[in-house]
Amino acid sequence: MDQELWVGQKREVPLPVFLILQRYVRNCRFNGTPGTILHVGIAHTRWATHGGPTEANAHPHSGCRRQLQVVHNGIIENYATLKEKLQKAGHVFKSETDTEVLAHLFEEILADGTSLPQAVRKGLQQVRGTYGVLVMDPAAPQQLIAARHGSPLVVGVGDGEFIIASDISPIIEHTSKVVYLEDGEMATITPAGMQIVTIASHQPVQREHESVEWTVDDVERGGYAHYMLKEIFEQPAAVAAAQQGRSIPERGLAKLGGLELVAERLAKVQRVTIIACGTAYHAGLVGEYMLEEYAGIPTEVMVASEFRYRKPVLDEGTAVIAISQSGETADTIASIQEAKQKGCLVLGIVNVVGSTIARMTDAGVYLHVGPEIGVASTKAYTGMLTVLALMTVTLGRQRQMSLVTGNRIINELKALPAKIEQILTQRAAIAKLAERYQAYPNFLYLGRKYNFPSALEGALKLKEISYVHAEGYPSGELKHGPLAMIDANFPSVFFAPQDSVYEKSLSNLQELRARGGPVIAVATAGDEHIGKVANDVIWIPKTLEMLTPILAAVPLQLFAYEVALLRNCEVDKPRNLAKSVTVE
Ligand code: AGP
Repeated sequence: MDQELWVGQKREVPLPVFLILQRYVRNCRFNGTPGTILHVGIAHTRWATHGGPTEANAHPHSGCRRQLQVVHNGIIENYATLKEKLQKAGHVFKSETDTEVLAHLFEEILADGTSLPQAVRKGLQQVRGTYGVLVMDPAAPQQLIAARHGSPLVVGVGDGEFIIASDISPIIEHTSKVVYLEDGEMATITPAGMQIVTIASHQPVQREHESVEWTVDDVERGGYAHYMLKEIFEQPAAVAAAQQGRSIPERGLAKLGGLELVAERLAKVQRVTIIACGTAYHAGLVGEYMLEEYAGIPTEVMVASEFRYRKPVLDEGTAVIAISQSGETADTIASIQEAKQKGCLVLGIVNVVGSTIARMTDAGVYLHVGPEIGVASTKAYTGMLTVLALMTVTLGRQRQMSLVTGNRIINELKALPAKIEQILTQRAAIAKLAERYQAYPNFLYLGRKYNFPSALEGALKLKEISYVHAEGYPSGELKHGPLAMIDANFPSVFFAPQDSVYEKSLSNLQELRARGGPVIAVATAGDEHIGKVANDVIWIPKTLEMLTPILAAVPLQLFAYEVALLRNCEVDKPRNLAKSVTVE
């Protein structure tokens, strides 16, 4: 990845985050003379995997023989086997969670007189699955244990205090110095400081701290009603930041520092496989069209949760691109491990610097769009598309793309922030549209070619924050089924910019109108025809066809936001969802 300082992000959305504030006596010396720990605390925001969201299942969990306290993110896959063994040994369980097994397991080992660090380490060696875990024992308040495998953990190193969390966001208001634990590592924190060892072999690990670039202000709402709205309006700056200093227009070249070390390997790449989830997957679908049309590279895109269980045909001629805002998505991480197993060059497109995916990949490009807090991804999506366009120029110019074409793409990318500003001035008009359409229970989102992914992404935005059923579809597929649903009660959002498939799109749009289906068209400003066909039109400025998804996304983010407000939904914290899906 680019050599960049860490940029973290603060979240207030339901994300499994646990903190430990361990403040030493101010005058405590770290030369081995132990100070006295003033405060040690554990907190946890639970995203239920095993057992419902009940008091009994809330963390921290304790065992039954001492008050050991455990909080955990991840999934203990062999918890049932461990639980049965511990119950046979007389342990009594209080919850339905997998996490509680850890507390009893550590207690069972402690009973032999083993120290807490050793007990945790030996216990975790019996665990199969993923964990980001914190353990404290009131009987030994001078220490705290943190360990991770497959679920992120970062340690904030403050002035006489440590703050541990699964994410940088709760840390940055206390310190900008952080240490990342890697998978298979365990940290023991005492008044003398922090020691890191490997769980498997107790090998000491030396790890320098890194500095966080983001400040608390970066992550506050900045006067907006919701993080999502703030992040929608940050998109002109975000799309600008994603390309800042990353091109040489006069030579029609992109300049992506994080790819320079693998430039030679990139030039030999014969195929690209993109893996991602959710919105990142939709970005990958746009990237597929870009790479095929402008770099001439056969490209396929797979949902990471499918990729990891398929038998994808990969070889050293394949470059795998993992796209992830958080850099912590479990399915994407597992897919990267699989791709590396096959000897592929694995690249990352990630927003959170220093995240797991950023550190796992051979190289990559950071989005630089700043912290994205709202669960519904907005500026990260347009940032991903911007970076994919730059990567297309990089790969294309290593192949048949001309200087002129490279220059045209780069110059049009530079014009996008102003064009997004223009779209954002339509917020009031889009809010009115939302009022007119918010009562409909179903929507079809339709688009062709570059805007088929726009349809998928627009539908995802609406359903994930307003809980309204919306389905993205290639508009050419209408006659193969979806048209049967269309009547006056079934509206469509239709992408019909003036592009290479405009005429085809118009005829599809007319098929909807002929069945009485209401249509909101997303069209190119100045198109004098579309308004005669569609019921309503949202205008986007003219741009290159390959870049229209960046503009087309913005009005539909606003549309989804306004509908969600009208439906009194929790825009930043939609039910059942988390900002980063760190479990399978
Ligand atoms: C998008 O609005 C959702 N929040 C979700 O689909 C998200 O894109 C997906 O979980 C992938 O997250 P990532 O980009 O952090 O890997």
